[in-house]
Amino acid sequence: MTASAPHSILPSLTPDEERHSEAASAFIRDRIVSAGGWLSFAEFMELALYAPGLGYYSAGAVKIGSGGDFVTAPEVSDLFSRCVARQCADVLAETGGEILELGAGTGRMAVTVLQSLAELGFLPDRYAILEVSADLSDRQRTRMEQLPPGLRDRVVWLDRLPETPIRGVMLANEVLDALPVQRFVVQGGRPYELGVGFADTGSSADLADPAALVWREAPDELAAATAMLRELPEPLPDGYVSELCPRVEPWLLSVGQCLGHGALLLFDYGLPRAHYYHPQRTDGTLRCYFKQRAHDDPFINIGVQDITAWVDFTRVGEAALAAGLEVAGFATQAAFLLGSGIEALVAEAADTVTSARLAGEARRLLLPGEMGESFKVMAVCRNLEQPLRGFAYQDLRTSL
Ligand SMILES: C[S@@+](CC[C@H](N)C(=O)[O-])C[C@H]1O[C@@H](n2cnc3c(N)ncnc32)[C@H](O)[C@@H]1O
Repeated sequence: MTASAPHSILPSLTPDEERHSEAASAFIRDRIVSAGGWLSFAEFMELALYAPGLGYYSAGAVKIGSGGDFVTAPEVSDLFSRCVARQCADVLAETGGEILELGAGTGRMAVTVLQSLAELGFLPDRYAILEVSADLSDRQRTRMEQLPPGLRDRVVWLDRLPETPIRGVMLANEVLDALPVQRFVVQGGRPYELGVGFADTGSSADLADPAALVWREAPDELAAATAMLRELPEPLPDGYVSELCPRVEPWLLSVGQCLGHGALLLFDYGLPRAHYYHPQRTDGTLRCYFKQRAHDDPFINIGVQDITAWVDFTRVGEAALAAGLEVAGFATQAAFLLGSGIEALVAEAADTVTSARLAGEARRLLLPGEMGESFKVMAVCRNLEQPLRGFAYQDLRTSL
């Protein structure tokens, strides 16, 4: 996910966005009141993103792409999805079966992967999409109309994970970062959960906005973070704020149970744990995206802005092992795309104009200051013998 402007200049809301955000905010405030004045940040994030009819992903904003709030790799360039397709072709050659994409956004990756696999001669039996956002699911259906019938007919939408384990490939681009996270602050070497409350606690009379939502520290330690912090190479300083995502384990367990033979490719911005919880990363990784601007205040624009956090890939790897899967590869996005042949795809351009455009898109996907380094790819497999070409250039598994 990328956004391009300084945090300070946020565009104003349209009247419709204003109304929507007020309704979402009122709904969450009621929840805070009924919870006794304090809600964990994970609950806040769950509601702000997924509350039926009100949450960011449940309602109808444009969200993804240049006219939306943020741009993802498949939206930056089809080169990304064409590389993913090459990796899928290798796996499908061994497993046969299908592709299941989790959280397919606008459907752009699905279209390009299917077109590329048709060219490569490795079409999956079907291309299933599991999408929690009704609005994005509608956009995906519209997008599939651009496919010829032989490809379009392979696309199906699921409302839950398949009950029978599948053979083939599962894809999830920028899904893990959309799972709700807990937030904590370190005090006296111990992590205390940060939740959401109201500015007015009854003790301060001169607040600018007593009803404003603010961070509030829980009195008890966040047990889920305590053991993890103890294992870190360096202690974290007082005042250190960060996030953790306890939803990773159940998510990977349920998704992993559906994988009988093949690979799950997870793409996201994130780090191995020792880097994620580096003592100098004092403000965590929580970010909000609104109309191509990134900022760090989740308590404004509720319901009309995205809220995300970086992924602790060590946690993902551990969860995969606990789910009985194998971590078959971990690399930067740049290394994965190079291993999957992005240079050859750029070189195939038919004319100089296309060549210049593709070279520019490839730079955005590959350069360390763009998406190349901060975005990672993890391959999680079951019963797969085929080596994965996307990880031939780089093996970062020892950093996990
Ligand atoms: C940041 S968007 C990425 C969309 C798309 N993959 C792309 O790269 O453009 C996150 C996507 O994950 C979906 N999502 C969120 N939680 C999910 C879950 N538990 N299972 C499946 N999809 C989920 C959202 O609805 C959305 O489509």
